[in-house]
Amino acid sequence: MLMEITNEAKTYTKRGKPASYIPELALQSVEQFAACIVDQNGNYFEVGNIEPQFTLQSISKVINFIVACEYHGLQFVLDKVDVEPTGDPFNSIIRLESTAPGKPFNPMINAGAITVASMLPGESVKDRIDYVVDFLNRITDSPHQINEAVYRSEIETTHRNRAIAYYLKANDYLLCDVEEAVETYTRLCSLEVSTKDLAKIGLMLAGNGVHPLTNEKFITPKTAKVTKALMTTCGLYNASGKYAASIGIPMKSGVSGGVLCTVSNGKVEHLEGKLGIGVYSPGIDDIGNSVAGMKFIEKLSQTYDLSIF
Ligand code: DON
Repeated sequence: MLMEITNEAKTYTKRGKPASYIPELALQSVEQFAACIVDQNGNYFEVGNIEPQFTLQSISKVINFIVACEYHGLQFVLDKVDVEPTGDPFNSIIRLESTAPGKPFNPMINAGAITVASMLPGESVKDRIDYVVDFLNRITDSPHQINEAVYRSEIETTHRNRAIAYYLKANDYLLCDVEEAVETYTRLCSLEVSTKDLAKIGLMLAGNGVHPLTNEKFITPKTAKVTKALMTTCGLYNASGKYAASIGIPMKSGVSGGVLCTVSNGKVEHLEGKLGIGVYSPGIDDIGNSVAGMKFIEKLSQTYDLSIF
């Protein structure tokens, strides 16, 4: 059954296009498809090549939010960024101007994510990046680095995110300089992971912060639960409602074509209990979600009844 779902999803790879606004991402071949599911006992389902690295893009918003909450405490973070879906595109600026006092609606859109980037621990961009990379390395038990080519390709043209950051600064929702916040945010979007890494992050979230494979506690249950609520309500941007209805799994996508999913309890063939899922297929739709990736998760959820609702 899993192979049938995979084969069907693969027929959708060419229906999406790689993100073109970051020239380096436009070079990704749309035919790629990889998925990794890991369960609480360390059983894996793998399809395609689950080791190659792609950039996190917006999936970094989940990691950064978790790091900020663990460092400052949830309330400190929520004083600067709300937990309300917008129904707007991920890079929309409109609500910062039209809704007083200009507080970003949630950390899964660019405005909220730039605020969160500005509150990451450290005195410099390097400190902040190192802190997050170290956290990611520990969860995934593997080293990670920034893809400099992707970073360069984005930072030179990220005028819209700069505009968002200036709005945030003007309304006192940035804890550091505009350029530092934008650089931190953009560098962390360019952090590389594999589908196996995403699956491990998903598994840690399924364990409410305790990694089932090692029993190591990474984050508090409170942070894990708020993160999963945000992924469910805001993780797929202005398609979050639609996917909550058709899939019903906490998820976060990125424009590189990656998707991170977390399942608190499910049974997928020989995999059982808490599950982490990572999918990668670089063809994305107009909203920014991987077309084949979302098809795979939709079929998976419907076939194995994984919806939380
Ligand atoms: O801020 C940006 O434009 C990107 N680097 C990240 C956006 C992203 O991944 C949105 N995703 N679906």
